[in-house]
Amino acid sequence: LDLGVLVSGRGSNLQAILDAVAEGRLEARVRLVISNQEGAPALERAARAGVPTQVVSHRAFPDRESFDAALVAALREAGVSWVVLAGFMRLLTPTFLAAFPDRVVNIHPALSPAFPGVDAQQQALDHGVKLTGCTVHLVDAGTDTGPILAQAVAPVLDGDDRDTLAARLITLEHTLLVKTLGWISEGRLRLRPATRPGARVKA
Ligand code: GRF
Repeated sequence: LDLGVLVSGRGSNLQAILDAVAEGRLEARVRLVISNQEGAPALERAARAGVPTQVVSHRAFPDRESFDAALVAALREAGVSWVVLAGFMRLLTPTFLAAFPDRVVNIHPALSPAFPGVDAQQQALDHGVKLTGCTVHLVDAGTDTGPILAQAVAPVLDGDDRDTLAARLITLEHTLLVKTLGWISEGRLRLRPATRPGARVKA
């Protein structure tokens, strides 16, 4: 599995991938990490693992299409076959998605279709749900939508705030993302015919 990872910030999910690859738990190579934010800590993590990095700032482009075209060119150049969005805070255009059809994966800190968009943890607290979790899904043109590949559940506890809940979820995210990429690398991903917005992983 030749991965390209798109990031915007901290990069703990990227780190989980890098660690799993380094320890032989995930049959994959991270070919390129691209951040749209200069100085993102994720870039440091990639560099430490010897993975090539690029900063492609969305602000340097007049529109989403041209930004996405630059991303696609860089990923293709690096020999990437699957793209992982790991805390990448930009929406991708259909042009990008057409370049990697059904080969873009996102991790979202909620049980989709609940709480799409920013700060899903706070949304869960505000809504008063007792269970939340994280979702790994294929990316479509929506915000945190697309065929669901895997989910994991965590309780919302009395006294939780955004940070305690996010901390509980992030460890789940790391495990679920690596596990799902493992299934993909083993060729176990099967998409159902497009009658329902779901996918099945033959686990
Ligand atoms: C994670 O909570 C992820 O689910 C969301 O953004 C956050 C990124 O965290 N999409 P990190 O940069 O991987 O540490």
